[in-house]
Amino acid sequence: MQQIGSWQWIEKEEVASTNDEAYVLSQAVKSGCYVVTAKRQTNGRGRRGRSWVGYDGNLFMSFLQPVDMAKIGQMVFVVSLSLLETLQELFPKIEAKLKWPNDVLVENNKISGILLEKGEGDYLIIGIGVNLVGAPKLEEVIYPAASLKDKGFEVDRLTFFKKYVEIYDKNCSLWQKQGFAPIREKWLNNVKGLGEEIAVHTDKETKIGIFKNVDEDGILLLERQNTLEKIYAGDIFYIDKTKEQVK
Ligand code: BTN
Repeated sequence: MQQIGSWQWIEKEEVASTNDEAYVLSQAVKSGCYVVTAKRQTNGRGRRGRSWVGYDGNLFMSFLQPVDMAKIGQMVFVVSLSLLETLQELFPKIEAKLKWPNDVLVENNKISGILLEKGEGDYLIIGIGVNLVGAPKLEEVIYPAASLKDKGFEVDRLTFFKKYVEIYDKNCSLWQKQGFAPIREKWLNNVKGLGEEIAVHTDKETKIGIFKNVDEDGILLLERQNTLEKIYAGDIFYIDKTKEQVK
């Protein structure tokens, strides 16, 4: 194990899923913060039962840290904001935006994914995949994806990882000291589609409305027929007014 920032870091050659490795670790340890990275991931998981493709050269990492489970909704925002700020710091000219609840877009293509899972005790597993060099094709995903390399931004896996840890540590301290407000404000300043009409696909239906805000727990507030509706989970799509279709 190596130390990186406030984390004990374990780097693996090949794993099925770094989230699985973090889970096993959570059964063995009682305290401390850990991060597992892998050069190759053969059976990665995505949100909502989807799989996550493991292209060689992409970044696969899972953070294991004790978190107050009531604050998980806020945690997603700390993580996704830190990913965005990592991109902005590495590539000052990049056109990157956040997409509720936890994606990062570069020129409207999904570049990363975050999967939160519960570990043993009060440990939370924060699995993050970043498409550095490879991304699935349109027919394999529900939202168009791309790699940073596709967009002309090249960075090696460990340079990205180390910068991310530095920024994530800073945002975790900010969150601990000043609460959710400054994180939420930075997040809202960088989110795509705020104040615009969006479509939200939930398990049961598609809801169209205005993306008004996110609340103190990170829940999306969608305005429909002059009432604010809380959206707890779903995939959002932006409506291209020039084409009048959901994209
Ligand atoms: C999503 O569906 O957008 C979330 C994808 C999360 C993928 C990462 S890669 C590292 C970690 N290990 C996994 O099996 N999944 C997460």
